Amino acid sequence: MRITPADDLRCLRSGCSKRWPRPAPPGKVGAMTASGTLRAGLPTLDRDQRSAIRRPLTRHLPTRLLPADLLRIADQGAADILDGRYDALLPAQWDRSTRSAIRLQRRDDLELWLVSWVDDGESELHDHAGSLGALTVMSGSLREYHWTGDDLKVRVLGAGDQAAFPIGWVHDLMRDPRPAGAEPGSAPTLTVQAYSPPLTAQSYYEVTEHGTLRRTRTELKDLPE
Ligand SMILES: [Fe+2]
Repeated sequence: MRITPADDLRCLRSGCSKRWPRPAPPGKVGAMTASGTLRAGLPTLDRDQRSAIRRPLTRHLPTRLLPADLLRIADQGAADILDGRYDALLPAQWDRSTRSAIRLQRRDDLELWLVSWVDDGESELHDHAGSLGALTVMSGSLREYHWTGDDLKVRVLGAGDQAAFPIGWVHDLMRDPRPAGAEPGSAPTLTVQAYSPPLTAQSYYEVTEHGTLRRTRTELKDLPE
């Protein structure tokens, strides 16, 4: 039986598989805060400069949105998809051979995507240039390799899980291998991904034989990875 995006969403709505849960009420999300402040006390800086570096780093980001905001927006996007708000944007059929992304919203400071992940072997360590990001897994699962500064750390994100990507986050995302017993060509992993500002570029990396990270190139790119 050919499974269409509408079938997948009906399945999620009716609870026939592990489904993404409804988002918590406003105010429940927000455990993640902007990371720290810079160490002050550099003697060669004037008062204004010292004051500037004592401010939270978020004051210097190119967006007013925080990772917690993007997590909430991604969650709300998933709820809106299940409620049918974006049905007109969904394709007649998911492409089962390659990853695809559907832009759900775009404004000056935010872009929201629905991404369909397949086993296409396409993966590479990358950052998101000057954009923050966050995602909610609606169905299936993703595997992420994240550069910690010393090595790559792996985690698996299942339906209902969320992840945020601060500026400077270097990772590689791919569909987690199918669970044992799953049919080949089964429904892709679906995620809702939010970026602020919208993606414009990504840099790519490789881990060297010395265990360091080497940036190999930067590309103008507005599609999520
Ligand atoms: Fe990414």
